[in-house]
Amino acid sequence: MENNNEKSRILSIQNLIIKFKLRGQVLTAIRDISLDLYKGESLAIVGESGSGKSVLVKSIMGLLDKNGYIDQGEILYKDYNLAKFSTEKDWLKIRGKEIAMVTQDPMTSLNPLKTVGKQIEECVVLHQGLKGKDAYNQTLRLLTDVGIHDVEKRYKQYPHEFSGGMRQRIVIAIAVACNPKILICDEPTTALDVTIQAQILQLLKNLQEKYGLTTIYITHDLGVVAKVADRIAVMYAGDIIEVGKTHEVFFNGKHPYTWALLSSLPQLGAKGEELYSIKGTPPNLFNEIKGDAFAPRNPYALNIDFIERPPFFQVSETHFAKTWLLHSDAPKVEPPQSLQGFFEEGRRYVHEY
Ligand SMILES: Nc1ncnc2c1ncn2[C@@H]1O[C@H](COP(=O)(O)OP(=O)(O)OP(=O)(O)O)[C@@H](O)[C@H]1O
Ligand SMILES: [Mg+2]
Repeated sequence: MENNNEKSRILSIQNLIIKFKLRGQVLTAIRDISLDLYKGESLAIVGESGSGKSVLVKSIMGLLDKNGYIDQGEILYKDYNLAKFSTEKDWLKIRGKEIAMVTQDPMTSLNPLKTVGKQIEECVVLHQGLKGKDAYNQTLRLLTDVGIHDVEKRYKQYPHEFSGGMRQRIVIAIAVACNPKILICDEPTTALDVTIQAQILQLLKNLQEKYGLTTIYITHDLGVVAKVADRIAVMYAGDIIEVGKTHEVFFNGKHPYTWALLSSLPQLGAKGEELYSIKGTPPNLFNEIKGDAFAPRNPYALNIDFIERPPFFQVSETHFAKTWLLHSDAPKVEPPQSLQGFFEEGRRYVHEY
């Protein structure tokens, strides 16, 4: 994953292992992940509940729960190895001002006792070095940028006076006010209804361009990522099992788990038929995982999948997947019939595009 011609790396995660201690036992939530983030891109991380998406990004912000720890690996940002940070003082150099996060529940990031204007303005003062009237005007500009109307009146209101979608916009304004280089969005629209969800996605896209942000967008909904992401990383049981440009993963996915995720997209379901759902459950992370973690649920599993963990096989300059099916000795396996039409249509579209 070293070569990406157009872009330079802004963050590099190398061989990261994260564990949690729980009731005298140890659970491995992140199992040796390496991932580069490129300047200006929008990377989506997708995967089922419990696959480790939030743990991964929390480790970048120094926000792991107290019983969690980085067992191994590096998180390189500028001249820092964030994996070695141990004090809050260290993290204050990064959190908010270099890397900011928007989470699912905006209320947890807002102070209910302060007007939203003041909350945004504090970041403007602290991180943009503005004062008085300038800071106030910049705050109004940010409110406008995130799609809030009647900004002078809204400035003076408290979080409870806003709807869920509007609160999420305020949280985004606060994040942007700190001038971060990287914005992490952890399921920012999950709690919102579909129309609002689309608006927030569009907003994030606009802000990314306007402020030159690099974004990581987390979701368990593969359907939304095509709209926001330049690249997709697919997570399963604490590992990234496939990564590539959005169209590569969408229309030329190689890992059977990616196929399973794609097959559960509502747009693929035939009318009146039940939506495809992946059979079985993910592995227990307290146990050591042998081979490909998806093997027990994988109808295409080979013998070796139960024995040896697959490495990343390269599909293109930017596309990699951890499946033994890509090994030169593997039998030729076609993606499920139900996906083939989707793949062909998608490739044709990308070609014409
Ligand atoms: N504080 C903790 N103690 C023990 N285990 C934890 C802790 N936090 C997370 N985990 C475990 O780590 C694994 C990954 O959790 P994580 O929250 O990253 O999943 P996720 O992919 O974000 O899921 P979701 O889509 O539901 O948000 C899960 O098995 C979870 O139970
Ligand atoms: Mg999560």
